[in-house]
Amino acid sequence: MNLILSPKSFLLSISILAVNIHAQPPGTISPLAEPCGPSSPNDIICINKYAAVMPYHFFRQPSVDGVFEDTYGSTLVPNSTSWPLVANATFLIFDTEKAFPVLGSNPTYDFMFAVNDAVHEAPVYSPVTNKLYFSQLRGATSQPGFLPQLVVNLNVDPPYLGELVSDPPIYAPNGGTIHNGLIYWGVSGGNNSIGGIEERPGIATLDPTTNKTVTILNNYFGYYFNTVDDLFVDDKGDIWFTDPQYSWFNALTDTAPQLETASYRFRPSTGAVYLIDDSIIQPNGIAISPRLENCSSTYKRTVYITDSGAIAAPIAAEVGSPGTKFNTTGKRTVYAYDLTEDGNHIINKRAIYLAQDWVPDGLKVARNGYIVTGAGKGVDVLDTDGGLVMRVQTNFTVQNFAWTGADYKEFWIMGNSGVARVRWELQGQDLK
Ligand SMILES: *[C@@H]1O[C@H](CO)[C@@H](O)[C@H](O)[C@H]1NC(C)=O
Ligand SMILES: *[C@@H]1O[C@H](CO)[C@@H](O)[C@H](O)[C@H]1NC(C)=O
Ligand SMILES: *[C@@H]1O[C@H](CO)[C@@H](O)[C@H](O)[C@H]1NC(C)=O
Ligand SMILES: *[C@@H]1O[C@H](CO)[C@@H](O)[C@H](O)[C@H]1NC(C)=O
Ligand SMILES: *[C@@H]1O[C@H](CO)[C@@H](O)[C@H](O)[C@H]1NC(C)=O
Ligand SMILES: *[C@@H]1O[C@H](CO)[C@@H](O)[C@H](O)[C@H]1NC(C)=O
Ligand SMILES: *[C@@H]1O[C@H](CO)[C@@H](O)[C@H](O)[C@H]1NC(C)=O
Repeated sequence: MNLILSPKSFLLSISILAVNIHAQPPGTISPLAEPCGPSSPNDIICINKYAAVMPYHFFRQPSVDGVFEDTYGSTLVPNSTSWPLVANATFLIFDTEKAFPVLGSNPTYDFMFAVNDAVHEAPVYSPVTNKLYFSQLRGATSQPGFLPQLVVNLNVDPPYLGELVSDPPIYAPNGGTIHNGLIYWGVSGGNNSIGGIEERPGIATLDPTTNKTVTILNNYFGYYFNTVDDLFVDDKGDIWFTDPQYSWFNALTDTAPQLETASYRFRPSTGAVYLIDDSIIQPNGIAISPRLENCSSTYKRTVYITDSGAIAAPIAAEVGSPGTKFNTTGKRTVYAYDLTEDGNHIINKRAIYLAQDWVPDGLKVARNGYIVTGAGKGVDVLDTDGGLVMRVQTNFTVQNFAWTGADYKEFWIMGNSGVARVRWELQGQDLK
């Protein structure tokens, strides 16, 4: 049929067109997202200019005192045809210049093991046993089987997931690192009868060649720590650790917090514990930038601590262990500090990154200085300025991760319900 517009309807359609054209601000990025990078796999998606100007009307639902975990890809952008690519991408690229070299020509992502929905933490790789050790945090209110840790045997193909009960057993390691061949566990839980013995939050070592453990710290002048959460060992052998309150919230300990949240440095040779920061709401991941081998001792190293204060709960003993709630407006921040010249304290605290999903949980520094943090359903890779370079997306909430293998280019991610493996060029530090 011939479509003959009356002058009136013609004018009307012109004006509708004009409204639509002007509804979007000049400068709107288009496309927002597109496939990019190495052709295989084809789920690498670039976000152009960080999608700095999205077409209206867009909306991302924040959480107020909820447990709802929104993702970047869940942002509604109905006027972008490319936006749906974001939700299901494995690798989201924000800075192509920095991301492509660390991604390499053939990055892979494999979902390796379905695990229970508990928090999975404290991943540590022992090059001596060629095994990856990690933990499951199961509180008094969850199912039995709370004691064994998990071990991925990388000497067999495919890797094999087994259990480990150390001697004596250690309950709920929440952080792990390796130093001089010994695994150091941040022990986050306790009560008066863990597998028949009393145990309280602190620090223990595991010798991966014998499975023997030794407790090296279990109190602060008589008080229980709250939740020794994450830790690293410095060149002197001092252990830096965070002490948030999650074990109380999540029923991993039977005692309400006796101390404020804080971060400390412990010197095993003298037994002394030094306060290093008491300004963070829930200090969580902690890591140090690599020492550059060609630099003098005056090279400034950076210590990073995450604040996951947006996930919290009341601490009063009478409310028991209430579980946690999430506020988007709470602290979800990575802080950087300079290590002092003597290596004993941290100064010049500055906020460098507000997590774009959920809260920054585990944090480690890659060999090239890039900061990596588990945040919600994925892992964010940041440059030394805190710029988001890229994100690996997962279908489970990530708590932590570790590099494995002879060249530390395999990257194992663990969290609630899942363990995944990435192969890429972003190399981990060789902690040993
Ligand atoms: C944007 O999307 C909304 C909802 O789908 C629609 O009503 C509106 O016409 C769109 N605007 C433009 C400029 O396309
Ligand atoms: C993303 O994955 C989900 C679940 O597999 C699927 O329902 C959805 O259609 C996918 N979206 C796109 C844009 O491919
Ligand atoms: C101690 O904690 C473990 C693990 O949550 C639990 O199975 C056990 O019942 C607790 N014991 C006491 C005495 O609370
Ligand atoms: C340590 O535990 C692991 C995992 O259960 C086991 O494979 C290994 O043989 C044990 N090592 C020793 C020395 O008992
Ligand atoms: C140290 O080595 C790194 C990488 O090998 C190089 O980028 C850097 O410039 C070197 N620094 C000094 C002070 O020589
Ligand atoms: C979330 O924010 C509400 C409103 O400000 C507040 O009452 C609540 O305590 C906060 N919850 C958490 C977990 O911080
Ligand atoms: C995540 O994906 C893997 C395989 O792609 C699947 O086996 C697993 O059940 C998924 N997990 C969740 C929590 O959806």
